[in-house]
Amino acid sequence: MRFFAHASAAVAAVALFSSTSIAQSGTPVAYTDPDTGITFDTWTVSETLSEGGYTFGMALPSDALTTDATEFIGYLLCSSHNSTFTGWCGVSLGGFMTDSLLVLAYPYGGDILTSFRYTTGYYMPDVYTGDAELTQISSTINSTHYALIFRCSNCLQWTQDSASGSASTSAGLLDLGWAQSFPAPGNPSCPSNISLLYHDNGHNIFAATLENAPNASYTDWTALAQTTVTGSCSTTTTATTATPTSSVRVSASASATLK
Ligand code: HEM
Ligand SMILES: *[C@@H]1O[C@H](CO)[C@@H](O)[C@H](O)[C@H]1NC(C)=O
Ligand SMILES: *[C@@H]1O[C@H](CO)[C@@H](O)[C@H](O)[C@H]1NC(C)=O
Ligand SMILES: *[C@@H]1O[C@H](CO)[C@@H](O)[C@H](O)[C@H]1NC(C)=O
Ligand SMILES: *[C@@H]1O[C@H](CO)[C@@H](O)[C@H](O)[C@H]1NC(C)=O
Repeated sequence: MRFFAHASAAVAAVALFSSTSIAQSGTPVAYTDPDTGITFDTWTVSETLSEGGYTFGMALPSDALTTDATEFIGYLLCSSHNSTFTGWCGVSLGGFMTDSLLVLAYPYGGDILTSFRYTTGYYMPDVYTGDAELTQISSTINSTHYALIFRCSNCLQWTQDSASGSASTSAGLLDLGWAQSFPAPGNPSCPSNISLLYHDNGHNIFAATLENAPNASYTDWTALAQTTVTGSCSTTTTATTATPTSSVRVSASASATLK
């Protein structure tokens, strides 16, 4: 419990949630992606809590435990139920769904599309209007899982209307939240105009201890982030942007090597 002493919000969160749901461990597991060599701290939700499982990972600038980072490299490994219920998943960078920057991802048309979201209540989150930016490093999709490695710039502090919040990496511990849904988003081609149903494949908050996330190679790794996948929001525009050579695309028939 000593880690929780650093963050009163984590104490409150754990107290609030431990009585009603089983929390996953906040102790990170180091994971190195074989294609990029990026090492993450990862936190995994078991298949008993969320069908197919869920993993979020984070790599941080080398000084993130002493100076609050404004960005990170993220890893999302999420599950699809079947070929029509391909799902969506997300991470809350403030722990709770509300008043936090939400990063949402879903597979569509061979790409993983993403959307920053924000909400003050427990309903369909709005499009986030702050300056966060997501650039993809790799994206891998097969029939059961989709995995995205991405650089998330200006993601650890957020402002929406007159409200702002932040995640402090120098605390050594972050309040994070996960959510996962069986149904895919409606109107999926346009990430800023999707419709979502409640995340019926689970959600929870967890206090994530940072151990291996800061890395001296962080700056080098950010150079791998070159793909902006925007989707298509009008009938006259087509598809997504080009894929650079650093991006990994694995088709449904190929076997992914992310675990
Ligand atoms: C139509 C869309 C959505 C609806 C109706 C919805 C509704 C809710 C509700 C009612 C809860 C509380 C459940 C409980 O306490 O048992 C909740 C929790 C949560 N939601 Fe959502 N949600 C939606 C979208 C999202 C999205 C897009 C994300 C993240 C990308 C997200 C992340 C979370 C997280 C992390 C929790 C657990 C922490 C908390 O209770 O604040 N939700 N959601
Ligand atoms: C930094 O990343 C490299 C390459 O993935 C890894 O070998 C090393 O263990 C990492 N350092 C720490 C402190 O985790
Ligand atoms: C996918 O799963 C949903 C929900 O269980 C089900 O209604 C649907 O028939 C399934 N579709 C396919 C193609 O298996
Ligand atoms: C937004 O989505 C709705 C359906 O949910 C659709 O009618 C509308 O054309 C979409 N707008 C854009 C710009 O994609
Ligand atoms: C799909 O990807 C997941 C996660 O990387 C992996 O565990 C699984 O074996 C893959 N399935 C197939 C059929 O390649």
